[in-house]
Amino acid sequence: MTRPSWAPEGIDLDRPSASRVYDYFVGGMHNFEIDRVLAQQIAAFTPNIAETMRANRELLRRCVRFLAETGIDQFLDIGSGIPTVGNVHEVAHAVDPSARVVYVDIDPVAVAHSSAILDGDPNTAVIHADAAEPARILADPQVRALIDFEKPVAVLLLGVLHFVADEADPAGCVAVLRDAVAPGSYLAITHATADGQPAEVLEAQKLSGRTSTEIVLRTHDEIAAYFDGWSLVEPGLVHLPLWRPENPSDVGENAWESGAYGGVARKI
Ligand SMILES: C[S@@+](CC[C@H](N)C(=O)[O-])C[C@H]1O[C@@H](n2cnc3c(N)ncnc32)[C@H](O)[C@@H]1O
Repeated sequence: MTRPSWAPEGIDLDRPSASRVYDYFVGGMHNFEIDRVLAQQIAAFTPNIAETMRANRELLRRCVRFLAETGIDQFLDIGSGIPTVGNVHEVAHAVDPSARVVYVDIDPVAVAHSSAILDGDPNTAVIHADAAEPARILADPQVRALIDFEKPVAVLLLGVLHFVADEADPAGCVAVLRDAVAPGSYLAITHATADGQPAEVLEAQKLSGRTSTEIVLRTHDEIAAYFDGWSLVEPGLVHLPLWRPENPSDVGENAWESGAYGGVARKI
């Protein structure tokens, strides 16, 4: 296929990517036919997948607003994705126009598109990096230029840790971030799970192996362990729609069927 103008040179047009599949599910425009085909195959096994992804995006909005209203004015958004409606800097700036946001993603399309959207905004930046290399992220000059690690910062790991394989030690990666941030900082995680899901979810999980970032489904206890050294704020680690819903439509009828958990915690 021909490379659209918004896609950077050198990307593999014949392989679906997690960020573009997610973009498709949340109603974005930056995906290819190969991403849409994979998304539809995944949806055939897990009909509630689009709902879960939209619930993830809704949690992001509620969580960032909560954090900004709590007084957090710096955000490190790792696995930030392709910009779509309600990006972190937009939600944060609605509360505090001076908030600083650094986006981090492993996908060149997500980075290129974020960079185009953020062009000229001195309070934001985007870097191309791997969540499995937190020390590199923390040392990045663009990160250090915008984020003061002596002051509280929100580290967002929304929909990304399930792309970090056990061999890459996701708990160790989160611990590096925890040790780098000041007391009073926050950590937000959303993570896919097979808990309570039909057996077909495992078929969908296998399909994600067609991208370069295969999903690892983890249990509630495994995800809760990432918050070691942090204190979860109410309501704890819960199915996505149950994290501080603002109205009944946020919850819907089958919140517990959501194939992911979300939680926000404060550094002790
Ligand atoms: C499901 S999207 C989530 C986007 C956004 N955080 C949200 O919650 O709406 C996951 C993003 O994580 C990125 N990603 C996957 N593995 C990653 C890694 N190891 N390091 C950084 N980003 C990664 C993907 O490219 C994709 O853009």
